[in-house]
Amino acid sequence: MPAEQYGDLLQQIDMTSLPAHIAVIMDGNGRWAAARGLPRSAGHKAGAEAMRAVTEICRELGIQTLTVYAFSTENWKRSADEVGFLMKLFVEYLSKEVDLMNEQDIRLGFLGKREGLPAHVLTAFDRALDSTANNKSMQLNLAINYGGRDELTRAVRSIAAQVQAGAIQTAQIDTNLLAANLDTAGQPDPDLLIRPSGELRISNFLLWQLAYSEFWYSDKLWPDFGKRDLLTAVIDFQHRSRRFGGA
Ligand code: IPE
Ligand code: IPE
Ligand code: MG
Repeated sequence: MPAEQYGDLLQQIDMTSLPAHIAVIMDGNGRWAAARGLPRSAGHKAGAEAMRAVTEICRELGIQTLTVYAFSTENWKRSADEVGFLMKLFVEYLSKEVDLMNEQDIRLGFLGKREGLPAHVLTAFDRALDSTANNKSMQLNLAINYGGRDELTRAVRSIAAQVQAGAIQTAQIDTNLLAANLDTAGQPDPDLLIRPSGELRISNFLLWQLAYSEFWYSDKLWPDFGKRDLLTAVIDFQHRSRRFGGA
């Protein structure tokens, strides 16, 4: 396949007002595969390729943080076959992609609940986290076994434990403290949320962090999503008027 051309779109982007954080719900792999008479696993494999392209273009643009939703706390409802394939794909991706991340100075982050993930996935994750920990050009958060409600519940539990231990007073609990106890602690909230595949819902993604994000939807299925789509989303984002509740 010839490399995707996108110089024309790149020219339309105002490099002084890029979104600091882009979040993506990588959806539509199953439908992409079904449309081709392929098993869902083929869709997930193709989805991993799309993720590589989108990571590359975000890095090239100079996006500070990219977060991709790869597996939700609800996705365990799928068949054992599909879940098993996805776990294998994560391990494969994490071990294969580390060199590329280091080459591109990308630091990996993990969003989600460790509990419930197979040991071999956690080991691969920890290795990649460790190996990329000192990279500085871009933060790539992989949300696996992630749910916004679960994340908020874990944060509340952690704050309650700090109160119980006498480390903080109840009166000190504010929005900053809550944000500091989320998996995204210290990171900017997403400016732009992208959801492909025509679905118009959040599906339990970053419930706290998306409070003022701009939403951008596309009917394209995730494996068909390319660098041009990402750039188009950024251009549209730059034409939005964000008021944050102001007049
Ligand atoms: C997204 O694609 C990948 C995961 C949720 C793991 P889907 O597998 O949800 O694809 P559709 O929505 O069924 O087409
Ligand atoms: C959201 O997609 C989760 C991920 C992309 C990882 P789903 O396919 O699970 O969402 P629903 O079920 O359509 O809401
Ligand atoms: Mg889906």
